[in-house]
Amino acid sequence: MNETIFKDFPELRVVDTRKIGSDRTIKSYVLRTASLKEREARAIETYWPRYGLSFKDEILDFSTLFGNDKPVVIEIGFGMGAATAHIAKTRNEYNYIGLEVFLSGVAKLLNAVGKEGLDNIRMMRFDAVEVLKHMIADSSIAGFHIFFPDPWPKKRHFKRRLIQKPFAELLARKLIKGGYIYCVTDWQEYADQMLEVFDSIPGLKNPHGGFADPIPWRLETSFEKKGIEKEHPINEVWVEKV
Ligand SMILES: C[S@@+](CC[C@H](N)C(=O)[O-])C[C@H]1O[C@@H](n2cnc3c(N)ncnc32)[C@H](O)[C@@H]1O
Repeated sequence: MNETIFKDFPELRVVDTRKIGSDRTIKSYVLRTASLKEREARAIETYWPRYGLSFKDEILDFSTLFGNDKPVVIEIGFGMGAATAHIAKTRNEYNYIGLEVFLSGVAKLLNAVGKEGLDNIRMMRFDAVEVLKHMIADSSIAGFHIFFPDPWPKKRHFKRRLIQKPFAELLARKLIKGGYIYCVTDWQEYADQMLEVFDSIPGLKNPHGGFADPIPWRLETSFEKKGIEKEHPINEVWVEKV
């Protein structure tokens, strides 16, 4: 099933490129190689041509891509995409770009937004670090959503966490003035790290002082559900570019 999809859409096969991304510093994901279910493959065949973007070493032109000038929000690691589709539908004064390397998740989000006929979202199956570096202009993004990034709890894996100073600096550089970074995690020690890292970036301010109150327009995600079942605290971090 996956091979048929990769033959039809070769841009879905590769999720990073060391050739032009040789300066990549964070490998924040492990690729799950589960084979696609039939309905997932069908969703890709049907909706990828409309919603999918290919990785190119070329800055995206959002006005051409969306056909309007609404501000653009990028979600990194949308997983199964349930919150993503809900937010795109209900908070539709923004355009959205979802980045995820997990192919079944891409298929699920395609199915959700395709069935709804949403026109304010696009997605890419590619390493977000490379996408931001190569395809997103500086000072062009209204917001970043990063919900339950992999916590990499073992000390020897801390270097794989997304929210570290170099990546936070990259996010800040891509934001417009007044743009935001919104992260949520169920891993207390990573939540503390997020506050500390963002606090260390000149040009970012935390209007809440510490953790933010839950944001009403965010739907519970599947990883959040797992965190709650384990009685982990859910911490929200919201910072803005000044
Ligand atoms: C723990 S899951 C959370 C998924 C979803 N946000 C949720 O809350 O249910 C983290 C997701 O981030 C994705 N991810 C991690 N690093 C990434 C990267 N550099 N680029 C794109 N996706 C990434 C992983 O594939 C994984 O699906």
